[in-house]
Amino acid sequence: MANKKSLLSKKVSKRTQSIHGEHTTSAWDYSHHIIPPLTASTTFRLESLQRGAEGFNQFGNPKNETPILIYDRLDEPTTLMLEEQLKIMESAECAVSFGSGMGAISTTILSFVKQGQKVISHKTLYGCTYSLLTSWMPKFGVETELCNLNDTDLDEAFKDKSVRLVYCESVCNPNLEIIDLERVVKAIAKANKTRKDDNKILFAVDNTFATPWGLRPIEWGVDIVIQSLTKNMSGFGTDMGGAVMTAKKYEATLKLGRKDFGAIINPFSAWHIMVYGLSTQSLRFEKQQENAMAIAKFLAKSKKVEKIFYPGLESFPEKKLAKKYLKTPEGKFAPGLMIAFTLKGDMKKTAKFVDDIAKNSYSITLAVSLGLNKTLIEVPGYMTHSAYPKDKLDNCGIDPKLIRLSVGLESIDDLIGDLEEALGRV
Ligand SMILES: Cc1ncc(COP(=O)(O)O)c(C=O)c1O
Repeated sequence: MANKKSLLSKKVSKRTQSIHGEHTTSAWDYSHHIIPPLTASTTFRLESLQRGAEGFNQFGNPKNETPILIYDRLDEPTTLMLEEQLKIMESAECAVSFGSGMGAISTTILSFVKQGQKVISHKTLYGCTYSLLTSWMPKFGVETELCNLNDTDLDEAFKDKSVRLVYCESVCNPNLEIIDLERVVKAIAKANKTRKDDNKILFAVDNTFATPWGLRPIEWGVDIVIQSLTKNMSGFGTDMGGAVMTAKKYEATLKLGRKDFGAIINPFSAWHIMVYGLSTQSLRFEKQQENAMAIAKFLAKSKKVEKIFYPGLESFPEKKLAKKYLKTPEGKFAPGLMIAFTLKGDMKKTAKFVDDIAKNSYSITLAVSLGLNKTLIEVPGYMTHSAYPKDKLDNCGIDPKLIRLSVGLESIDDLIGDLEEALGRV
């Protein structure tokens, strides 16, 4: 291929040179970088029309192992590197990255479910996922049946041939309920025996709360795993991202969906998440979990606390499921970094406590999002889960008074000190 340098023997104006430069360097070799390079090119030079045509023909072809880079929205070097790392962490054959967790969720649903088909979903979901399934998808002829996946008669539910997707969060946002993944996987396998290939039931699980350091649903037979990379994977609250980890046979469909829906991650965020987030996550997760365990024990003893939900406590309602599923890759119990609790008294008391934290706490911040190095507190029923109609909250496992705490990396004495002071004032 003629490179820009060889073409420079031609007489070219400074204006044109200021745009094109040389644009090649023999040093551009990824294998020599200790830290992968951060590239920023929305489009890629193609040496011939034939090569361009090949790239478009091959894109989204499951047999294509070496993508021809054409345009960022199709494939991009930094996101390809991020995806390689994500697939390893979730024990998957492949990963497809997105611009946000919601980009990953909506692309998954739109890519695999069509008009007339149905989603069966656990009823406790992140607020925007609830909104997507109950407000948006019906506009495209896709209905969602909300149920309790842990006690619904699944054999009966799957007799309905329109069921195409089962959806849940492995550890539910916000009440930390744990789904018995194996039970669902077994029921789906049974139902799929009599279904045609293009109508097999798929199981998609949002693993954001657990993180891959606490649970890897693919190892339990789940088809599709979703992460909001914005949370603990990224870890510092600087970047948004999402990812789907799945079998190689679903990769092409997801990439074609991502291309047309435009839900791509930008390479800068992909680079931050890969270089800073993923490489420090196991350490952050361990420390955050240690802090969460200490806070949960403290809250469990407080006379002001009515109920507390933390998978590490013996009082946790799904303790058996927690012990079964929440494990590090080495097999150590991993109850995680999220806590949910309610205070005795009415909503006014909850608001007083949360406002007190917002005003007077140094180590705890009133804010949405989770998994960050900083400890965050919020009231899901009025904030992240406000898409749920108020009269449906309780029925969907979300106590309107529930307080959600995402535990960070601060000194445990400061965190407990701030909680103790605020509790003392309500
Ligand atoms: C469990 C869960 N899934 C998905 C999302 C959506 O992720 P994002 O904000 O990156 O779109 C969130 C956001 O809070 C979440 O808590």
